[in-house]
Amino acid sequence: MESTTILLWVLSFVPLVILMIKKKRIGERRVPPGSFGIPLIGQTLELSKAMRSDTAEEWLQQRARKYGPISKMSIFGKPTVFLTGQAYNKFVFSSDGKTLSSKQPASVSRLMGEKNLFQTIGEDHRRLRGAILSFLKPEALKQYVGMMDNEIRLHLAQHWHPDHVEPLMKTLTFNMICTLMFGIERGERRETFVRLFKEVIEGTFVAPINLPFTRFNRSIRARSEVGAIIREVIREKRAKLEKGEKGHDLITSLLSMCDEDGLPLLSDQEIEDNCTVTMVAGYDTTSGLLTYLVKLIAEHPNVYQLLLKEQEEIAGGKKEASDPLTWEDIGKMKYTWRTGTEALRMYPPILFVFKTALQDIEVGGYVIPKGWQVLWTTCITHLDGSIYPDPHKFNPSRFEDQAAMPPHTFIPFGGGARLCPGNEFARIETLAMIHYLVTRFTWKLCLEENTVSREPMPVFKQGLPIRLNSREPYKA
Ligand code: HEM
Repeated sequence: MESTTILLWVLSFVPLVILMIKKKRIGERRVPPGSFGIPLIGQTLELSKAMRSDTAEEWLQQRARKYGPISKMSIFGKPTVFLTGQAYNKFVFSSDGKTLSSKQPASVSRLMGEKNLFQTIGEDHRRLRGAILSFLKPEALKQYVGMMDNEIRLHLAQHWHPDHVEPLMKTLTFNMICTLMFGIERGERRETFVRLFKEVIEGTFVAPINLPFTRFNRSIRARSEVGAIIREVIREKRAKLEKGEKGHDLITSLLSMCDEDGLPLLSDQEIEDNCTVTMVAGYDTTSGLLTYLVKLIAEHPNVYQLLLKEQEEIAGGKKEASDPLTWEDIGKMKYTWRTGTEALRMYPPILFVFKTALQDIEVGGYVIPKGWQVLWTTCITHLDGSIYPDPHKFNPSRFEDQAAMPPHTFIPFGGGARLCPGNEFARIETLAMIHYLVTRFTWKLCLEENTVSREPMPVFKQGLPIRLNSREPYKA
């Protein structure tokens, strides 16, 4: 009798155990396929190695071939879901601040500032982004084409006797952001600012060990000096505004904005952190695009000829050679921007972006558990032969009808609520610089092989050496 009771008692648990095993299996099956690799290390070293040898695209492609467009891996000790393809790009770009967060690791946000755009979500993100975009949107930027033109001419006159392209493109991009975003004049303060900013940017890619004399510690100290300079500039711009003087820079624009109660729309800390983020986000990206363009134009004489024709027509329309480029001129640079677009497709300055799942997310029949990282890439979509036939061929003409491109397939600037707000700024700067380069110079590459490493932005190891010759000024 006693043994029968025990048996019945045990049997009564069987359905529960079966249910638990089944639930566990479903849970396991619903997490995307893939492997976490070696404990703690995961795929971090493999990916870093591929980045250093500029083969990250192939490494990611192999993973997508092996496990499909959604798979799991482990990067920086965190479980990560790697997504690729049009449908998953759409999923990332249409997600809101409640599902995916763009927050950076604590070490990076310490350098960029807690109030920077990447850190914010919801209403705060909308308010800050709206304020920055009111300066960076095309309708606003078109009044700054003349200032950009002036910056490029100064740059060419002072620096453009290059043997190495990459450092010069960085100088140009830095000066452009300094003039238009910060409104800081050339001189000692700007020089100090360049040095400090470079130190801050370097700190975003190193081990975050904050001990005296570490790289990261130097970056933190540089960030606090950058902050002091920006705060000083804010005080100066505010004083000017109070005297009724106008300014043509992002800081002045942000200081002038008020909410419906007439109070400042942004705090000084928000202005400081978002000026810092525009420099960090805009510096290596735009200079990387320009450096690649110089290389690609040299390697493709047919493209150069078409660019030259377009740019000479624009130069020929000027009364004087000293007349600056206008917004209308930028609008005529259709083939030139196709070239820029093709360069961004093949060599996107940002290969991938990490986000974090803020809740369990169901996508493609799988679950991305809360707290996991989500890794979306630009490069795999851009090299997909079913979207871009012969994807490794540099062919600007493929963008003749960009409106006909399927959505979410050209994504160097991301998409959705987080679409890069600096994309138009980068486009105008690139077009204006290419105008002056092709109309004033010809150049040849010095090396057959230029080694590129991703750190994580592209770095030309030899700096892209070229031989430059001046051209006769254009005569109609
Ligand atoms: C060729 C040049 C550039 C490329 C390829 C590029 C690309 C990107 C990408 C992929 C993102 C991330 C989107 C995401 O998180 O999903 C981004 C965000 C951002 N970029 Fe750019 N960028 C460029 C230039 C610039 C410039 C010139 C500026 C500033 C003037 C800038 C400011 C920003 C900011 C502030 C964000 C954060 C947006 C947000 O979270 O709402 N970028 N960019």
